[in-house]
Amino acid sequence: MDKISSSEITPEHLFFSRRQLLVGAGLLVAGALAGGCGAGGPSPRAASSSAPPSSGSNQSSESLTSYEAVTGYNNFYEFSLEKEDVAALAKGFKTTPWTIEVGGMVNRPRTYGIEDILKTFAQEERIYRFRCVEAWSMVIPWTGFPLAKLLEEAEPAPGAKYVRFQTLFDPQRMAMQQDNSFDWPYIEGLRLDEAMHDLTLLATGLYGKPALPQNGAPIRLVVPWKYGFKSIKSIVKIDLVADMPVSFWMAASPDEYGFYSNVNPDVPHPRWPQSTERRIGELGRRRTMPFNGYAEQVASLYAGMDLRKNF
Ligand code: MTE
Repeated sequence: MDKISSSEITPEHLFFSRRQLLVGAGLLVAGALAGGCGAGGPSPRAASSSAPPSSGSNQSSESLTSYEAVTGYNNFYEFSLEKEDVAALAKGFKTTPWTIEVGGMVNRPRTYGIEDILKTFAQEERIYRFRCVEAWSMVIPWTGFPLAKLLEEAEPAPGAKYVRFQTLFDPQRMAMQQDNSFDWPYIEGLRLDEAMHDLTLLATGLYGKPALPQNGAPIRLVVPWKYGFKSIKSIVKIDLVADMPVSFWMAASPDEYGFYSNVNPDVPHPRWPQSTERRIGELGRRRTMPFNGYAEQVASLYAGMDLRKNF
């Protein structure tokens, strides 16, 4: 589970042709067509769908980031502050058994084993842009399911307004958690309507394979219109709460990291601009898009809000 041999890795050209095959067979659901944003748009794969085939037209302008880069260039502070060291240090991290406790202000609290999650929620593929606050980006084919499905099972109680997520705390296995300069465990939060949005994914794999430890196995969040640090890894607890959670990064540096953290090229980080980004594997820089290119789907969540103040 923790290991993947190189022969198992789907080379990108095979991955693409498999995907084109599925597109040709009409297996993409309508959401993929409505989004109309190619590689960056949601591309759920659902065998039950009878949506017409998509042309897959602007795939070529945004190629998938290589598997090697996605699994070899990681931010996961529990293991290392050095992106290139995370994979080696996380190797062998055991992700079974694993439980995810869903509770707080819900009518039906439940603790899932990771195997229950995989059985209960149909896994689909979503190809999303991923934009780190450090101004690099990737395009990643995730496997997972909408967080909304899990929250619906839990039945949010009246008064629940936010969702709080927590990473495993185990300093023996995640050595950086012995370093007291951070306030462990890693915490993240979303407003309930953000959490219920169809783009918000709980990911269990990528490139058609189970996720490796460095990518947040066995289950992590992916919120494609927000900076990557919102996409918390190796989740053990999901709580519905009344008050806005204080995230790991808000606690560490409140002037630099806000609760919303929507990708916004007009609001520079205090130490660098956010107007452009380096797409891993490409030369030069790309312009960063508002909400990371998902404005059509999510901008209405923030209608009337001052996005400079609510950064
Ligand atoms: N989750 C935890 N628990 N710990 C972390 O250090 N880093 C975040 C996010 N989730 C982080 C985390 C940041 S800054 C980024 S950019 C993404 O994970 C990186 O995800 P990736 O390594 O899968 O690309």
